Amino acid sequence: ADNGKKYVIGVSQCSEDIWRDKLNSELVMSTYQHDNVVLKFASANDDDRLQAKQISRFVKEGVDLLIVSPNQIHTISSVIDKAYDRGIPVILFDRKTDSKKYTAFIGADNYEAGHEMGAFIARQLKGKGNVVEICGLEGSSPAIERNRGFMDAVSGFPGIRVVDRRYAGWLKDRGAAAMDSILAGGQHVDYVFAQNDRMAVGALQAAERHGIRGMRIAGIDALPVPGGGMENVRDGRMEASYIYPTRGDLVMQLALNILEKRPYKRDNYLKGTLVTSNNANALLLQSEEIMKQTARIQSLHGKVDNYLAQYNHQKVYLLLFSVI
Ligand code: FRU
Repeated sequence: ADNGKKYVIGVSQCSEDIWRDKLNSELVMSTYQHDNVVLKFASANDDDRLQAKQISRFVKEGVDLLIVSPNQIHTISSVIDKAYDRGIPVILFDRKTDSKKYTAFIGADNYEAGHEMGAFIARQLKGKGNVVEICGLEGSSPAIERNRGFMDAVSGFPGIRVVDRRYAGWLKDRGAAAMDSILAGGQHVDYVFAQNDRMAVGALQAAERHGIRGMRIAGIDALPVPGGGMENVRDGRMEASYIYPTRGDLVMQLALNILEKRPYKRDNYLKGTLVTSNNANALLLQSEEIMKQTARIQSLHGKVDNYLAQYNHQKVYLLLFSVI
C-alpha cells in the first residue's frame, strides 16, 4: 500500500495435492504484482481439527484476511464464524460451509460439473447401463453438489441405473479400495463416474487387478500435469474429465478488492469445461505453453521459494517440476 502497510493473508487449504499446489503457486505468482501482500499457507491434510487449529492460529497471529477451503461443510464453520465475527474478511474458495458468515465465495459450480458428467455418461452409454459413482469426502460441499448434479442428469434416462455409490475421500487409494469391493461383489459395471481424477486412477488400477482392462470411466479436475486427468483423457485411459478451475489470480484479485474496499461480487462462479478425446490434446498443448511461461516467470523471481518453503519444503521441488 502507499503508506507501506502490508496485508497479511492466511490461506487455509484442507488438503495437499497437485490441484492445491497449482492454486497455491498461482496465489504466490499473483503477489508479484502486489508488493503489499504477504501470504501465509497452512495445509490440513484432510483433517478438520487440524484445519480449525490452523485457522485459529492465523486469527491469533492477526491476519487481515482469510482464504479458506473448508474440508467439510459443518466441521469448521464455527471457527470460521468466529474469525468473521471479529471482523476478519473470509473468502471461501472451492468448498463451502453451511454458515452465512463469509465475505465472498469463489469456485466452480460443482452442481454443474456433476450434471455435465452425468449427461455425458448417459450419452456415451446411449441411455442404458449400470453406473457406479465414486464420491469424494462425505460432508464436503463439492461431493454433495457433484452428486446432486449427477443424479439430476441421469434421472432423465430411465435406462441408466446407478448401482452403487461409495465415498472415497478424494483419495486415489480409497478410490481403488472402493472399486475393488464393488467388483469383488460381482457387480456388473458399464461406467464409473469418479468425482475426481485421482480416485478415477485408483479405480482403474483396481479394475485391472480384477482382469478388467479399459473400464469406462470419467473424472473431474483435468489437471494438465503428468499423471493428471488431461493426459489420461488424451491417452485414452479415461473417457472424460472436467476442468475444475483453480484461478488463484482471480482469488487474489477478489482478496484485494475486499481489502482495498473496491466493489466485488459475493458469490463468484468460475467456468469449467468438459474434456474429452476431442479436445484433450489441444487443451494440454495450450496449458503446457502457459506453464512454460509460468516457470520462466517463477525462475526469474525468488519469491516462490520463500513462501512455499515455509508451507512445506519438499513441495517446492514438486511444484517447480510440475510447471517446467
Ligand atoms: C483437491 C480436490 C480435487 C477436487 C476438489 C474438491 O484437493 O480433492 O481433486 O476436485 O478438491 O474440493
